[in-house]
Amino acid sequence: MKTKRLNLRPIEINDAEKIVELWSDPRVTEHLGGPKDPQRIRDFTIEIATDPEAVFAEEGDRWWSVCLGNTGDWIGKCGLLAKDVEGVSEIELSYFFLPAAWGSGYATEAAACLADHAFNELGHSSLIAIIDPDNRRSARVAERLGMALEKTIPRPGGVTKCIYRLLSAAP
Ligand SMILES: CC(C)(COP(=O)(O)OP(=O)(O)OC[C@H]1O[C@@H](n2cnc3c(N)ncnc32)[C@H](O)[C@@H]1OP(=O)(O)O)[C@@H](O)C(=O)NCCC(=O)NCCS
Repeated sequence: MKTKRLNLRPIEINDAEKIVELWSDPRVTEHLGGPKDPQRIRDFTIEIATDPEAVFAEEGDRWWSVCLGNTGDWIGKCGLLAKDVEGVSEIELSYFFLPAAWGSGYATEAAACLADHAFNELGHSSLIAIIDPDNRRSARVAERLGMALEKTIPRPGGVTKCIYRLLSAAP
């Protein structure tokens, strides 16, 4: 999938070290429980790249690498992921970018493309974002997408998260 400035494509094995860099950066994981184990991230990325169907249960439930259209540089990843939220099956729209790519509108541009794909190609009628109450940057992306804060809920691990929701414009 392409946007004005970005390419969104399935995750490839060659993305593994960038994804490790992403999850090792304390700025990225500030509101996500801290840096993740590099080997686990590397192994999971390779698994996703080689056999996405085995990793993800639902059609359309997957991660996308986001690259700059002009240089091909890997800058982040976005996902549409099936989540159970208080016993209800939801589709979560999520976005994670290298700090060097923050502040340029890339996350909003990529997430808007994925939302469009979710509604118009995959037929979803509703998307949520699950956001730490202190993660203002993430909340601003959600708000720019047109998402509205619906509620604040307890999540596994004793944390509290905000649920933002976007409904398809289709009848
Ligand atoms: C959440 C995250 C993706 C947001 O990144 P971001 O750079 O703030 O968001 P965008 O890429 O949409 O950029 C928007 C900013 O770029 C600015 N901008 C600059 N040039 C722009 C342009 N040409 N077009 C659009 N916006 C532009 C906007 O004004 C906006 O700044 P503001 O929020 O200060 O007003 C990023 O902080 C991140 O990866 N965080 C760590 C992972 C994370 O927490 N993910 C969310 C989990 S719920």
